[in-house]
Amino acid sequence: MKATLNDRLFRLVFVALCAPIAVSLTGGSLRAQTPATPQVTFTKEVVPILQQHCQECHRPNAIAPMSLQTYEEVRPFAKAIKERVSARMMPPWFIDPNVGINKFKNYGGLTDDEIATIVKWVEAGAPQGNPADMPPPAKFDDDIWHIGTPELVAAMPEDLIVKANGPDMWKNIVIDPGLSEDRYIKAVEIKPTKGRRVIHHMGTTLIYPDGSSATMQSKNANIFEDGSGRSLKAGTKVVFQLHIHPYREDTTTSVEIGFKFYPKGYVPKYVAQTELMGDDHELDLPANSDNIRYDSYKILSKPTRILAYAPHMHTRAKAQCLEAILPEKSEQRDGNKVEPLNCINHFDFNWMMVYEYAMDSQPLLPAGAVLHLISWYNNTGSNRLNNDPDNWIGYGQRSIDDMAMAWMTFYNLSEEDFRQQVAERKAKSKEITENLSSKKLTQ
Ligand code: HEC
Repeated sequence: MKATLNDRLFRLVFVALCAPIAVSLTGGSLRAQTPATPQVTFTKEVVPILQQHCQECHRPNAIAPMSLQTYEEVRPFAKAIKERVSARMMPPWFIDPNVGINKFKNYGGLTDDEIATIVKWVEAGAPQGNPADMPPPAKFDDDIWHIGTPELVAAMPEDLIVKANGPDMWKNIVIDPGLSEDRYIKAVEIKPTKGRRVIHHMGTTLIYPDGSSATMQSKNANIFEDGSGRSLKAGTKVVFQLHIHPYREDTTTSVEIGFKFYPKGYVPKYVAQTELMGDDHELDLPANSDNIRYDSYKILSKPTRILAYAPHMHTRAKAQCLEAILPEKSEQRDGNKVEPLNCINHFDFNWMMVYEYAMDSQPLLPAGAVLHLISWYNNTGSNRLNNDPDNWIGYGQRSIDDMAMAWMTFYNLSEEDFRQQVAERKAKSKEITENLSSKKLTQ
């Protein structure tokens, strides 16, 4: 690419003016434009990204259609990789990084730099580089419990035989873990024990003896912070929700769940709950219409700390945003009445995700705040999952019906704890800003 005179002038002036900062902030891209740029190669720069972000699914016997471990395996997919990665469709992580909160415990996206590395590599013809640079293969420990040895393990009563080449299936399998007394969960994990490659993804719901239910975080292991947990009452049933994607050959599969508990009699100060929001039956998606918007609200009657957000819609859905409308007077209201939390900018029905906020980014919301969920739909033929755009679609359980909801996992705080946690958060962010600005000054 030839730089125009203007470009060059701009760069010169820019570099001269902000040299000390610009070099450290944009050094990479400035250097990238000089001809001596070292090549991005598979063995040196690309494999580490694939090991960290792709191979969990893209390896033999895992759920993705192809393995992405060796150069020979990856090379034929270079173009497809560039497309999926730059559209932020792979790895499956659909949070818009430019809106609201971007710190998650289970963060699964790529950074801008990682995306740029892959794109640059593909555009340069996907060179292999020096085989000697290849790092040792990544290890995946499918068989261990990441939460440590569970005290209670419950498995599916019998294996599920998944016939070759069938359509995708959604199965709900109810299990009785046989708990005879109330306990509080410190950590929980679900994992396939056989036939991992047909389990596209899985979730669990607890059905309490009183009939109420709570969807739990689905991603692998979930360990609660000390002093917080989730209740598992005697007689609680567990429902495994499995999205099954048949493989080329008949496959036997099974899933189990393991729990670690707090000691008997111990009640954690904070007990996580999961509630649905937006389970409205009035959803109205006219035929052949795009960008249909649906709004749902949930009033928080007590101060609340939000732990996880799990959007749930069906095949017509395209996007969803979550924001908090703060009451007139609140600790955090620095002139903003609406606090954007997150947006899913391309919702994919095939990937029901649970986004777990990192400790220091869990939204802290005062009593009286309102969670506002905005869902968008595309009920036209341009939506590749839409098999019948001439049909009106409303609320319903079947996957050809639709929904506009999210599972919110949270715990309530006392007014006093809430004020204290907000103050701690503010002090911390002030500290970070001060550190940053003093760094800038000394540079
Ligand atoms: C959580 C599991 C998972 C992770 C992590 C993941 N993938 Fe995938 N990937 C899949 C599955 C399942 C499919 C097939 C279904 C689909 O397309 O959604 C797929 C499909 C793809 C495709 C399309 C294949 C085709 O036939 O054209 C590409 C390309 C791809 N993945 C690249 C990547 C890259 C690159 C990464 C890492 C940066 C990655 N994936 C991370 C599960 C995953």
